[in-house]
Amino acid sequence: MYYKKMTSNSINNPGQEPESESNSASGHTEGGNEFSGSTKGLSGQVIGGRYKIEETIKDSRHTSVYKARHLLLDKPVAIKVMFLKLKDNENMFLRFKREAKLAAELSHVNICTMQDYWISEEGFPFIVTEFISGKRVTDLVKAAGGKLDEELAAAIVLQLCAALIHAHRTGIIHRDISPQNIMIDGGTVKLIDFGMAKSLYDTDSNLSMENTVYGTPTFMSPEQCMRKELDHRSDIYSLGCVFYMMLTGLPPFREQGLIDLVRAHISREPPVETEVKDPRLIPILKKMLAKNPDDRYFSASKLQSELEAQGFKAQISRT
Ligand SMILES: Nc1ncnc2c1ncn2[C@@H]1O[C@H](COP(=O)(O)OP(=O)(O)OP(=O)(O)O)[C@@H](O)[C@H]1O
Ligand SMILES: [Mg+2]
Repeated sequence: MYYKKMTSNSINNPGQEPESESNSASGHTEGGNEFSGSTKGLSGQVIGGRYKIEETIKDSRHTSVYKARHLLLDKPVAIKVMFLKLKDNENMFLRFKREAKLAAELSHVNICTMQDYWISEEGFPFIVTEFISGKRVTDLVKAAGGKLDEELAAAIVLQLCAALIHAHRTGIIHRDISPQNIMIDGGTVKLIDFGMAKSLYDTDSNLSMENTVYGTPTFMSPEQCMRKELDHRSDIYSLGCVFYMMLTGLPPFREQGLIDLVRAHISREPPVETEVKDPRLIPILKKMLAKNPDDRYFSASKLQSELEAQGFKAQISRT
């Protein structure tokens, strides 16, 4: 079984990012120019004949994200590069391509815009997207001292509802809604990282999905934990976990071990009533975090209407 985010560190601390990864502008985690294997450290190089890599944003397990510049347009872009050593791994290659294809089907102000997908001369594929000069929700919560005020948290959720309405209507489920995959650029929320996404119309039978569980355990729905077939309501549960974390400073379940965390998602009630202060949000959070998808909001649009009916607005005045 393969959990996307699982490393020995995250098995012990499933809510945290693996220690080996960095997220700073100069966050190289291994030194040197490593065309030989990891495709890390490409700063200064031009790839695809037109993108000059400027700095590392993040090195992950299979990919690096860089800030780069389109040389002719003189415009910043973000580039996700699959490690060169994986280029002969057909399954990884197809999954990376699928990430690009699914993101390319979407066009919405609250979804990071896909711009290009290409294969470098060295043979590694890369995805080019708009560059978002903002913070991730994880960083926003930390910078705010542990939690966000209700109006801001609800505004972020409302903008994510708009993103999900579009994605779900296009037949795409994100499957990895987490505070690391949501960025705020000025007053605009951007959903990123379609690496775990699935299209309901996907007919790519070449892509091996067996024994695979997708997502970030802290934010995974009960059905995702049980490796059941997912639909759009799984994203609503994960969004509920993110909402809960923005309001309280902690995710609904903080179990340290993966097995305990999975069990909690499946059978423990989240302490919404004791931890969430705004009475308008308690029933909303409970419905988003319902164990049975049938008991959740049927759609992101229903959730949006409910938040608006309670007086919340999508507009962000400050972050
Ligand atoms: N378009 C972008 N503009 C600016 N920063 C970005 C952009 N896309 C991604 N990032 C940064 O890079 C990080 C990793 O990106 P992403 O989640 O797409 O990659 P990943 O390989 O799937 O990583 P992970 O396994 O950590 O999810 C994000 O958390 C964010 O900080
Ligand atoms: Mg990510």
